[in-house]
Amino acid sequence: MAYRFKKQIFGFLDLIRFSKVVDVRRAKLAEGSAAPLPNDYRVNLTARILHPGNRKAVLTDIIKESADTKTYVFDLGVKMLFRAGQYVTLSAKVGDSYVSRPYAVSSSPYTALKEGKVALTVKKAGYFSDWLFDNAEIGAEFAVNGPSGYFHYESLKDRPLIVGIAGGSAITPFYSMAQALAEGSEDFRLVLFYGARTAEDILFKDKLDALTSDKFKVVYVLSDEENTAYEHGFVTADLIRKYVDEEFTAMMCGPDAMYSFLVKELATLGVSGKFVKKEANGAGVRDVKPAVYKLTVHIRDEVYEIPANAEETLLVAMERAGLHIPAMCRAGGCGYCHSKLVKGKFSIAGDDKRRLADAKFSYIHPCCSYPDSDIELIVPPQNVK
Ligand code: FES
Repeated sequence: MAYRFKKQIFGFLDLIRFSKVVDVRRAKLAEGSAAPLPNDYRVNLTARILHPGNRKAVLTDIIKESADTKTYVFDLGVKMLFRAGQYVTLSAKVGDSYVSRPYAVSSSPYTALKEGKVALTVKKAGYFSDWLFDNAEIGAEFAVNGPSGYFHYESLKDRPLIVGIAGGSAITPFYSMAQALAEGSEDFRLVLFYGARTAEDILFKDKLDALTSDKFKVVYVLSDEENTAYEHGFVTADLIRKYVDEEFTAMMCGPDAMYSFLVKELATLGVSGKFVKKEANGAGVRDVKPAVYKLTVHIRDEVYEIPANAEETLLVAMERAGLHIPAMCRAGGCGYCHSKLVKGKFSIAGDDKRRLADAKFSYIHPCCSYPDSDIELIVPPQNVK
């Protein structure tokens, strides 16, 4: 409560008024409403919908999409607001380790908002995805964090036409976008070039075809199979020019080699870097001489000493040791694993994308940092609701 104290011409009047301050405040407090404060303010509710944090997710359905790919449907128990193209981080206890991976949502924004459900389509191609493919059962409990990521249409920055380029199983964010365009939760036009080895490797073919409209078109490109019903080879500048004759923003999701090739192809079409968006890929195993270092990890008051393989990121070392570490993108982009380096040498996968202050004050992202010596880290704790 603000009490305005106006300075008087005669100083003694100020003293008299000052002596009444307590009484005036008591009177003002007595005038206040006795109704208890609300438990939830609207702004807090909105913040919780936008940033719901780590929460439980029950696996309610498993759909086999191909010989090595399944869609897992999770019930979050609460509605989730996300932009088509974003990812969530799925976590589970695998053996003695707590493992998490980011997966693009393959279902539509309306389904998440109305039913509190998200679908993740995952190819069997790694530690966690193999475990999911072979072991996940309906009814099992997982944790989901997010949504996160910037791989979505941005009306202020992107051109109204998006040229999407998907490589293999990286079709999932575009499938979500195609559904969002059909249901009206996103508003742009999308021409999707979908590269696969053979026709059999194309995921969601019937569903994508059914979603085509004046806002969404799809061009299938097979690299290993000649078939008159499809384009053959790779997505190139010439192929894009064949289907697109106006300015566009390019969005790519696939392996790094595909990005390197396409950035050059797009440059020949006059598409500059600011109109090219690439979904980040997580740091994998690096090719170095095998070595095992000592990694000392501080999480709140606990201290752990664990081994760290030179080929693997510090995050993987901590997960292998069963530590519960916050992580979402696993590519140095979200800052969720941001940790203080106390001592030790490390290398970063790809470019050093840290802020200048992080580099100056020794903060690193364990998700994309490899040990080059014994390391000591202070890591933020992970919370699971
Ligand atoms: S998990 Fe995103 S920066 Fe490390």
